[in-house]
Amino acid sequence: MPVLVEPDSSWASALAPALPLGTQVVADASQLDAWLTEQGNEYVALLGPSTDLDTALAIGATLRATHPALGVVLLRTDPTSDVFQSAMQVGASAVARADDLDQITAAVDRSRSTWEAIRGPVGDGGSRDGKVITVFSPKGGVGKTTVSVNLALALSNRGAKVCLVDLDLGFGDVAITLQVIPDHTIAEAIDAEEHLDFSLLDTLLTRHDGLSILAAPTHPDAKERISPALILRVLRILREQFDYVVLDTSPSFDEYVLHAFEETDECVLIATLDVPTVKNVKVAIETLDNLGLVPSHRHLLLNRADDEVGLAPSVVEGLLKMKISTSLPTALAVASATNNGRPIVVGNPDHPVSKALLGLAAELHGAGSRTSAQHNGAGPVEPAKRSVFSRLRK
Ligand SMILES: Nc1ncnc2c1ncn2[C@@H]1O[C@H](COP(=O)(O)OP(=O)(O)OP(=O)(O)O)[C@@H](O)[C@H]1O
Ligand SMILES: [Mg+2]
Repeated sequence: MPVLVEPDSSWASALAPALPLGTQVVADASQLDAWLTEQGNEYVALLGPSTDLDTALAIGATLRATHPALGVVLLRTDPTSDVFQSAMQVGASAVARADDLDQITAAVDRSRSTWEAIRGPVGDGGSRDGKVITVFSPKGGVGKTTVSVNLALALSNRGAKVCLVDLDLGFGDVAITLQVIPDHTIAEAIDAEEHLDFSLLDTLLTRHDGLSILAAPTHPDAKERISPALILRVLRILREQFDYVVLDTSPSFDEYVLHAFEETDECVLIATLDVPTVKNVKVAIETLDNLGLVPSHRHLLLNRADDEVGLAPSVVEGLLKMKISTSLPTALAVASATNNGRPIVVGNPDHPVSKALLGLAAELHGAGSRTSAQHNGAGPVEPAKRSVFSRLRK
């Protein structure tokens, strides 16, 4: 992994998009020394722009002698030819402009290749057994994307490392809800299934507001080329890297959603106060029961819970035989937050909707580990082993 020496947090944040997840930031040479002593697989040290040139060159010279396989990249706001010359004299591997993120990423990648040529493959640092949280409803427009985006942000605000995956592969709108334009989407992992690992998947993630996002394909027709096995593989890789993987889903029990349920630890089921939705949520619950999926880790969220439409929340609980764990009122602020790209838990954390969603995040944060499905790690997907479709045929 890279380590960045940068005492200025605004510079550290500005540089983060150029650096892989898991990059460690340290403030000075002594912290760098302590970190490198502790870690075995750091392949590049980046010396940030707010460390003065003489100090940065001195650190570079020391690293050359103490960690010869480690790349040293000097980041400067104004890299003159004198800077290049001095950097080469102390054995730095590259000098990059601090505001040129592509140049920095390229320098990091080169350092990684050099390190791997000398020392073998870099481990991807994946050791977490993160929790997969699936936000689902068999009905469209009930708030799945709103809830998954805000939930992901709420978990991230609790200090967790969160990846939000848009599993609405045909018409995903996570990116637009956050008003980000993803450079890459899950479609680019098609055909990479066999050799997909985190270093490849990491390049497809979009960083935004502390979240990592795996965006849905830009064009709906890409969905047909995505296999359910790829989804399983993606989820298994991501859960090793993140504390939480939050899934936004399409409004149907398609094969992707069903396979995702195989990896799901906690399921947030969304209902609203209308009979067709409640009926369909009931069918969804029965389907989950029949398949033995997430039996004791389901959370019922009632959206637009204050709508006066002649169906009381208590009736919904009775019909679904589930207690409502979270109720969200209808609020203009939710819709306008969607339209201005600033989700309500971020833009208005004191709003009742935000408080309810932050409460849900706290509940999920404290929930135990899953019992319904065994996590097989990020090894090759074995479709025959736990095929949800074989269970469906029973
Ligand atoms: N509690 C609420 N109050 C007001 N507006 C809401 C509320 N919940 C969701 N909305 C709005 O309803 C619309 C649909 O929500 P959202 O996109 O989250 O639903 P969805 O279930 O993901 O839809 P789809 O099935 O099409 O993906 C959005 O404009 C959103 O802002
Ligand atoms: Mg949606």
